[in-house]
Amino acid sequence: MVAPLLIYLMGFDLMMMMTGIRIDATYGTFVRGMQQDIFLKRNGTNFLGNVWPGDVYFPDFMHPSAAEFWAREISLFRRTIPVDGLWIDMNEISNFYDPEPMNALDDPPYRINNHGDHRPINNKTVPASAVHYGGVTEYDAHNLFGLLEARATHRALLRDTGRRPFVLSRSTFVGSGRYTAHWTGDNAATWGDLRYSINTMLSFGLFGMPMIGADICGFNNNTTEELCGRWIQLGAFYPFSRDHSAIFTVRRELYLWPSVAASARKALGLRYQLLPYFYTLMYEAHTTGAPIARPLFFSYPQDVATYGVDRQFLLGRGVLVSPVLEPGATTVDAYFPAGRWFSLYDYSLAVATKTGQRVTLPAPADTVNVHVAGGTVLPLQQSALTTSRARRTAFHLLVALTEDGTASGDLFLDDGESPEMGGRSDWSLVKFSCATGSDGAIKVRSEVVHNSYAQSRTLVISKVVLMGHRSPAAPKKLTVHVNGAEVDSSAEAGTRYQNAGGLGGVAHVGGLSLVVGEEFELNVAMSY
Ligand SMILES: *[C@@H]1O[C@H](CO)[C@@H](O)[C@H](O)[C@H]1NC(C)=O
Ligand SMILES: *[C@@H]1O[C@H](CO)[C@@H](O)[C@H](O)[C@H]1NC(C)=O
Ligand SMILES: *[C@@H]1O[C@H](CO)[C@@H](O)[C@H](O)[C@H]1NC(C)=O
Ligand SMILES: *[C@@H]1O[C@H](CO)[C@@H](O)[C@H](O)[C@H]1NC(C)=O
Repeated sequence: MVAPLLIYLMGFDLMMMMTGIRIDATYGTFVRGMQQDIFLKRNGTNFLGNVWPGDVYFPDFMHPSAAEFWAREISLFRRTIPVDGLWIDMNEISNFYDPEPMNALDDPPYRINNHGDHRPINNKTVPASAVHYGGVTEYDAHNLFGLLEARATHRALLRDTGRRPFVLSRSTFVGSGRYTAHWTGDNAATWGDLRYSINTMLSFGLFGMPMIGADICGFNNNTTEELCGRWIQLGAFYPFSRDHSAIFTVRRELYLWPSVAASARKALGLRYQLLPYFYTLMYEAHTTGAPIARPLFFSYPQDVATYGVDRQFLLGRGVLVSPVLEPGATTVDAYFPAGRWFSLYDYSLAVATKTGQRVTLPAPADTVNVHVAGGTVLPLQQSALTTSRARRTAFHLLVALTEDGTASGDLFLDDGESPEMGGRSDWSLVKFSCATGSDGAIKVRSEVVHNSYAQSRTLVISKVVLMGHRSPAAPKKLTVHVNGAEVDSSAEAGTRYQNAGGLGGVAHVGGLSLVVGEEFELNVAMSY
């Protein structure tokens, strides 16, 4: 059942599990499966397949006892190795040999074309004539196997750990997003597959699988320094971000090349700062179905120029990622829908357009073009070496103002692992809004919508950065009030003003201790 492959995801152990159970009379899982008679059948007997463990039988997840069998085996296994998450692979179902046709189901009068070369229906899989519990043929049920296995695995982990399960499945169907994350399968280390990872990710988001990503640097074939450097610049913003490769390919750890390591520090550093934003988007995906990574047309449906954009994407409604997808490129052609867009690296106003605009952006080797839309409040934390450490750092708010000086955004928080139990779990939802007065003073307000998580913890916003302030000149002084009381706004406290004049002024307001779970009003006034 379980291949000896354990990966360490920043203190989180994910183990890969094969779908086929090795035929081996000394293997308890096999023996118990035989006793309970839960394997897939063909022609009246267990169907014999062959995958990485050797000769195998496949559990039939349509059998009423299969999920319980699976749960008990996972629980037994976790007594030996207490993995956190399970990666269910080869579950299309993949089979290393082509079964001989037995009846008409195995040889329908058409060819499927999922590989582009019209292979027979039984090619490298379980035959269409195999039979599930209740007489359901594999022909009718083939596409459901991954979904049923993901559901059984999710429930097994939930029962055994008491925590929110993490399952990663290669095969999915409509509804799988409720139980599992998904990666795009065996891609190759090619520039084409780097590009296709974007439309594939966006499609799966729309299919209801928000936790989605492609193997960074490419799975099959040998990657290169340049490709890997560009891939991490894109892959750091996949909702599911993982570097992975096939056996017998060259090593591709990001630290192997100084240039790739530099790109990775930059891109992953930003990802980790964005974790509160990603997490809030996961909450939104859970409650509304909106994907985390979205095509531009999702947020700008009135702009027909966005319809064909498949080389860029949005995270939520506010963050636009415009990666390099060609070898040798030092610029990237990006489309910006109407509005103001600020660089997430230096907070400069990069583009302001009334109707949408195509822009050529500089993109030297270590550059990742990520922009935030005017009107967005991004909750950030600090980057750290692990996600759990990053989630213990102080919050910052990054406010990108529209031309009329407004912005809004949300922050969702919980402990990240408690299951929802009838809605009783601890969680907090805070909404931020921002407005600019005629005197140029900026007000940021918070509204605590729900607060059972943050109220028992001291979570603090230590800094607010306001981008895109309209300013006639450099202000001589910023005066900062929190809930009506003046606070230290000295440079020592971290308060300063950058890029004076025009539309792109940036006010950094530091030294704050705004409590996330308590409503506040921050007022920043400028004197000239
Ligand atoms: C199916 O089973 C019958 C009876 O055991 C056997 O004669 C036949 O060869 C089997 N067919 C296949 C394709 O395995
Ligand atoms: C089945 O797929 C393999 C590749 O996985 C291919 O080499 C083989 O030719 C296919 N078989 C047929 C009969 O098309
Ligand atoms: C990938 O490697 C295989 C050999 O393993 C080769 O046949 C194929 O052409 C390579 N693909 C690319 C895109 O280089
Ligand atoms: C990848 O590189 C290794 C080591 O140089 C080589 O053995 C292997 O054949 C290469 N694989 C492909 C698909 O080119």
